[in-house]
Amino acid sequence: MSVLSGKKILLGITAGIAAYKSAFLVRLLVKKGAEVRVVMTPAAKDFVTPLTLSTLSKNEVLSTFVDEENENAQWNNHVALGLWADLLLIAPATANTLSKMAQGSSDNLLIATYLSAKCPIYFAPAMDLDMHRHPSTSESFKKLTAFGNIMIPSTHGELASGLVGTGRMAEPADIVTFLEQDLLKKSPFYGKKILITAGPTYEAIDPVRFIGNHSSGKMGFALARVAAQWGAEVTLVSGPTSLQVPHESITLIRVTSAKEMYQASHRYFDACDVAILSAAVADYRPKVKATQKIKKSEREFSIQLEKTEDILATLGAIKQKQYLVGFALETENELENAKTKLKKKNLDLIVLNSLNDEGVAFGAQTNKVTLIDADNKTYPFGVKEKTEVAKDILKFISEKIHA
Ligand code: CTP
Repeated sequence: MSVLSGKKILLGITAGIAAYKSAFLVRLLVKKGAEVRVVMTPAAKDFVTPLTLSTLSKNEVLSTFVDEENENAQWNNHVALGLWADLLLIAPATANTLSKMAQGSSDNLLIATYLSAKCPIYFAPAMDLDMHRHPSTSESFKKLTAFGNIMIPSTHGELASGLVGTGRMAEPADIVTFLEQDLLKKSPFYGKKILITAGPTYEAIDPVRFIGNHSSGKMGFALARVAAQWGAEVTLVSGPTSLQVPHESITLIRVTSAKEMYQASHRYFDACDVAILSAAVADYRPKVKATQKIKKSEREFSIQLEKTEDILATLGAIKQKQYLVGFALETENELENAKTKLKKKNLDLIVLNSLNDEGVAFGAQTNKVTLIDADNKTYPFGVKEKTEVAKDILKFISEKIHA
């Protein structure tokens, strides 16, 4: 899944011949899962039609503050547009628009939106070679990059004038790759390795029966997906679930028993920066696994159980640089029990689920958690979708490891 997936992208199109390529750009961004809205300068409509762009983006294309042909028209709010966007991309960016951006002359909707935007801003210059190397244009580049705007450099090649030189807008596919790489580098977990355990474990009684629990693995898989989207390289060690790997940066290790989960977790722990143990590991397993299916010959039947390895505690005992996170599911004295677990298992953070809370259940789409850190500070959150809970947890961890 691309880092652009779910991103709100405002594409500004200005009046250069490369504007015809912006249609491909919209298509590529939409294919990556981004939501795209287009703002054009009025003159850009001479190069590509709003109809093409609205069809490809599935959104209305804006170019003026008001639609003068519609007497019921509303003011196109540049402030709202600027705030809506996760990123503003201006491609192609002509010498004229770049100069206006650098000077702050907001004589059209695009420049007004640019001046209102608080999100990261990228611009892909496109112009003839002499315009590109003019000191005035170099000044614009310098000013805009000093403002923190990011330039997607022009390339060298044949230009619309027939001349050969630097000034071609970067190809749409290269612009998309540039955005992906830049966003990934700025992601909270870029370059970090995260180990996550998820799901239940099954402890075999005989070849056909086991002791298990109702854990769906949804919370752990949501954590893995969000961590991967935020740039992490994730190793997801999961007990039996029907869930599928949601991202190419996730390596899924499927295990069945607590022993296998213990072995896999220890194998990957050393190299990881963060370990989040959200699995519902069986606390006990049958002491002996029958080699043949057990027959119902007796009136009463009992199985002797032995403790499984406490994966979290054993990782807590050997942890060095790793930020170690455990989960606690409690039904009474929740905060006290969770704090005791945090200390006993040598954790940096514990995520407390209280079964007394509404919206909290095995298999549910929602969860409600309280985070408790190593200083015993508590951070309660409301009932949320598991993906949102995963974001809260990972945002907290990211702030801690970068503090
Ligand atoms: N855990 C683990 N290995 C186990 C049991 C639990 O790694 N054998 C981890 C879980 O993944 C979770 C945390 O320990 O992150 C808390 O598990 P929980 O079952 O709530 O607590 P226990 O330590 O088992 O204590 P108790 O059953 O007494 O509440």
